[in-house]
Amino acid sequence: MVELKEINEDNFEECIALKLNKEQSKFIASNLFSLAEAYAIKNSGMNTPITYGVYNDNIMVGFIMAVYQPIDKNDPEDFENVFYLARMMIDSKYQGKGYGKQAMIKMIEIMKEYPYGAADAVVLSCSRDNTIANKLYTSLGFIDTGETDEDGDVYLRLDLR
Ligand SMILES: CC(C)(COP(=O)(O)OP(=O)(O)OC[C@H]1O[C@@H](n2cnc3c(N)ncnc32)[C@H](O)[C@@H]1OP(=O)(O)O)[C@@H](O)C(=O)NCCC(=O)NCCS
Repeated sequence: MVELKEINEDNFEECIALKLNKEQSKFIASNLFSLAEAYAIKNSGMNTPITYGVYNDNIMVGFIMAVYQPIDKNDPEDFENVFYLARMMIDSKYQGKGYGKQAMIKMIEIMKEYPYGAADAVVLSCSRDNTIANKLYTSLGFIDTGETDEDGDVYLRLDLR
């Protein structure tokens, strides 16, 4: 059974040790970088990082990170609270077993319970070349917004209400 457990002092080293194959590494920052980024985001005080290990039968098989981004009142163009799905990876030896999809479903369930605050949507950016990730997100109802980030990755969006 797939479960999400928060990253803490007991499991962060396992998270850093998770691996992707070379071709996939270009799609996503390392878990080491992501945990450092989460620490920095937390200390900045505006947004809330959310980091979970993905477990199957109590073995960590992946990592998922979101950032709760409430409206920035200093930004006139920011008009909604969102979760930004920053990272999602399954260790290469555990891929293709449905863990990624189940982890994402669980993450959306958590987001809908609003433990971090209410949000209108989950957004993420993904390379158009990342066929498997695109398939996973669209099968869960994410829509291609047509907008791209500075790397040319496309923004996908799932409304939460
Ligand atoms: C994207 C990723 C998390 C998917 O995890 P996973 O556990 O292997 O995916 P799942 O087994 O849950 O499969 C998800 C979907 O992709 C399909 N899929 C999985 N592996 C596939 C493969 N090798 N070829 C084709 N389709 C594949 C599955 O059939 C499933 O589709 P369905 O929902 O229509 O049945 C994983 O490939 C990964 O870690 N990639 C590298 C990091 C990355 O790119 N992250 C996303 C950044 S935006």
